[in-house]
Amino acid sequence: MNTTDPQIVLGTMDFGTRVDPDRAFAILDSFVAGGGVWLDTANCYSFWTDPSGVGGASERLIGAWLRARPGARDAVRIATKVRQNPLVPHSWPKSAEGLSARAVHAGVEESLGRLGVEHIDLLWAHAEDRAVPLEETVGAFGELVAKGVALRVGAANHAAWRVERARSLAREQRVEPWTALQLRHSLLQPRPLTPVAEAGHRMLAAEDLDLARSEGLAVWSYSSLMWGSYVRADKPLPHTYDHPGTIQVLAVLDDVADELSATRNQVVLAWLMRQGIDPIVGASRVEQIEEALAARRVRLSDEHLARFGEAR
Ligand SMILES: NC(=O)c1ccc[n+]([C@@H]2O[C@H](COP(=O)([O-])OP(=O)(O)OC[C@H]3O[C@@H](n4cnc5c(N)ncnc54)[C@H](OP(=O)(O)O)[C@@H]3O)[C@@H](O)[C@H]2O)c1
Repeated sequence: MNTTDPQIVLGTMDFGTRVDPDRAFAILDSFVAGGGVWLDTANCYSFWTDPSGVGGASERLIGAWLRARPGARDAVRIATKVRQNPLVPHSWPKSAEGLSARAVHAGVEESLGRLGVEHIDLLWAHAEDRAVPLEETVGAFGELVAKGVALRVGAANHAAWRVERARSLAREQRVEPWTALQLRHSLLQPRPLTPVAEAGHRMLAAEDLDLARSEGLAVWSYSSLMWGSYVRADKPLPHTYDHPGTIQVLAVLDDVADELSATRNQVVLAWLMRQGIDPIVGASRVEQIEEALAARRVRLSDEHLARFGEAR
């Protein structure tokens, strides 16, 4: 595999809260043994399930795993995010830290401590913060790269025009620009113009891909497997997906999965990777990450892509 080929990213949002340490360690071990490299976390994971009411459990879990596995730090790359951690327990979004220079620097300092690492491989702005001048946020991210604390920086859940404005400000400030986008995306699409129910989620739109392709930005998709809804009766699709396009796409998905002797999930991941997108996959069991990693061997032809294109 080429290092620039799209990769499966392990989503660790539930680690240390919903996924207990033993299970999380086993998933991390299996991911690395299977050739996985990138871990996605955030300083706010997962304040909504942690009794403390603040984030940090996922980063602490990854830090404990790195300490327990000599050599692991060199085997993985770590992406984390600042912006959403509540400064007052159980008080989100009111007390979310935001993206002021002070908040970004303080947030990253704490992340480094929890992870027990010298640098972060990719630092995301978790969401927009329009209460802070964009110049200030761009400067703070740029300073962290200049200091070697973050190797790369990116924007999650941002409007494409804000990302491009931030990149232009970075050029003016002669600092490292955001070079990656993280948005929610999967094969199935919600009804057009219907807001998604999940707080803070932003759907990938055509202009995001347009921006990424013209500027050479990486794109990571989250909720790529729609929480297991492609294959599980206990995880029904949200009602915003209740439209004729869903039925058509699922019919093609079943045909293609059958032709390629792959699972529905694997074809969805292969479809994302075929477009140059790195799918993040959350796992609470070893078998789930094994199934996801095996999607790297599923090859979709141009004809498969055309069939999905027509159905969507
Ligand atoms: N930037 C953002 O705003 C943002 C937002 C959301 C998520 N994320 C990132 O994306 C990651 C994943 O997001 P997500 O959890 O929303 O979406 P997801 O990856 O679509 O869903 C993960 C869940 O799907 C189920 N699953 C996974 N593999 C499966 C398989 N092979 N068969 C059946 N079920 C399977 C599991 O549910 P069970 O545990 O119930 O078995 C798992 O916990 C997070 O960990 C986080 O890193 C980022």
